Amino acid sequence: MLTHDKIERNVGLMIVLTILTISVGGLLEIVPLFFQKSTTTPTNELVKPYDAVRLAGRDIYIREGCYNCHSQMIRPFRAETERYGHYSVAGEFVYDHPFQWGSKRTGPDLARVGGRYSDQWHKTHLLNPRDVVPESNMPAYAWLDRPLKDDAIADKMRALRAVGVPYTDAEIADAKKAIEGVTEVDALIAYLQGLGLALKQTR
Ligand code: HEC
Repeated sequence: MLTHDKIERNVGLMIVLTILTISVGGLLEIVPLFFQKSTTTPTNELVKPYDAVRLAGRDIYIREGCYNCHSQMIRPFRAETERYGHYSVAGEFVYDHPFQWGSKRTGPDLARVGGRYSDQWHKTHLLNPRDVVPESNMPAYAWLDRPLKDDAIADKMRALRAVGVPYTDAEIADAKKAIEGVTEVDALIAYLQGLGLALKQTR
């Protein structure tokens, strides 16, 4: 008989049974989410795949490690919704691979920063935050004011299509052209300005 006494005296058996228990519990929690409409379909028609420029901007966001100081996930608490707007919902992130939720907030959450400031404010702020927020400890990203070079942009869109982002052949074919003449900082701003517009800002 498989008694407590036997399991607790046998490390190997204990490990196997622990893994089994956690796996079953985990699967029961996680697997249903793959089939729930609210987690797999866009919240509304305002949630669209990133166009080539915003996608390139998103890659700069990742490259520069912005997620180390900024989350993109508003929790459903009053203190958060008063400050940042409607709490985040899963359907807003269906085209994010990988998502940029993050957990560290040295700076404010950016989930709904789209439209909060002008493009010019963002440009000044990104190149030297102290020019607009004197007490800011955000690093200056002065080098971003240079031409965007991304030879892999079409390949990236193809890869995203493979995991379910509905890019058309035309969008992929035009991607390289679409980012021509754009600077890195402008692409990053285009990305930021589109964040979180799907749910009305209550801020
Ligand atoms: C070392 C931490 C740190 C890093 C890294 C960082 N930031 Fe910030 N960020 C801050 C802080 C602190 C603030 C608040 C003060 C300010 O506005 O500058 C801020 C503010 C902002 C704001 C204004 C948000 C608002 O609602 O007022 C934006 C937009 C922003 N950061 C974008 C970025 C981007 C894009 C990157 C990457 C290129 C980045 N940050 C990297 C710390 C950081």
